[in-house]
Amino acid sequence: MSSIDAPQSEAAVRDRAAHQAYAAGRQVIVRLSDVERTYRVHDETVHALRGINLDIYAGEYVSIMGPSGSGKSTLFNMIGGLDQPTRGGVTVHGIRIADLTRPQQARLRNRCIGYIFQTYNLIPVMTALQNVALPLLLGGREMKQAQDRAAELLASVGLEQRLHHRPDELSGGQQQRVAIARSFANDPSIILADEPTGNLDTHTGEQIIENLSEMSRRHGVTIISATHDHKMLYVSDRVVTIRDGRADRIELRSELDIRVGRIGEEDRS
Ligand SMILES: Nc1ncnc2c1ncn2[C@@H]1O[C@H](COP(=O)(O)OP(=O)(O)OP(=O)(O)O)[C@@H](O)[C@H]1O
Ligand SMILES: [Mg+2]
Repeated sequence: MSSIDAPQSEAAVRDRAAHQAYAAGRQVIVRLSDVERTYRVHDETVHALRGINLDIYAGEYVSIMGPSGSGKSTLFNMIGGLDQPTRGGVTVHGIRIADLTRPQQARLRNRCIGYIFQTYNLIPVMTALQNVALPLLLGGREMKQAQDRAAELLASVGLEQRLHHRPDELSGGQQQRVAIARSFANDPSIILADEPTGNLDTHTGEQIIENLSEMSRRHGVTIISATHDHKMLYVSDRVVTIRDGRADRIELRSELDIRVGRIGEEDRS
């Protein structure tokens, strides 16, 4: 190694040690191993993910940042088992998703994963209450129990007055909150939140982020949340920056503190 490299290497060694200390004793809940995803569109090949290696630990709050088109939603689809990698593999709770049958994948999603889709994916002909009750019914709850729990979840996101509205009778932000309530339904161990505050005003967005953060702190739920918004980073244990289908940078909260001062304050000044 040349002497020119030395100062950078020292910092790299320090960073690696900090990351190793962070990982020590933690349980891996999601592992992405060399995940590639290419799409063929007409004669063109689109490289949405170009080899992502990432371990996510039980109970942590990970924010995924990156420009539009960098591969965030594709990554979520891989973790949620909605799409398969072209190369590489994904394990959730130590189980390789590709080894599961479709019904087993659906069961894993229903029991363990709460998915907040970027485009909500609510069922248009169902009311808010029915949308939130559905995963509970699919998970085996009785109708009355499912409805009571759904009403409680909707109240927790401020929608107690909108239980019987269909998605087209709700604003974008309200639909997003129904999707958030639905993701909490079966007490998942992992929540995949694809831009959960994208359509919310700052105050409501912060409330939702606080909700997610509390689930992680109090109940040990692992939160994986894509965001464009620096204001929403302050709850993160780690921030992964995706660029052009690669995990470009992984930062610990302590490193973010150094980079942006107090996280969450930078856009407010
Ligand atoms: N089904 C598909 N067929 C072809 N190309 C796709 C498909 N899905 C995604 N892509 C491409 O893969 C790349 C990554 O898309 P992705 O939706 O993961 O980005 P993103 O980071 O979530 O963006 P945004 O911040 O806008 O939501 C983009 O270039 C997109 O055009
Ligand atoms: Mg996206």
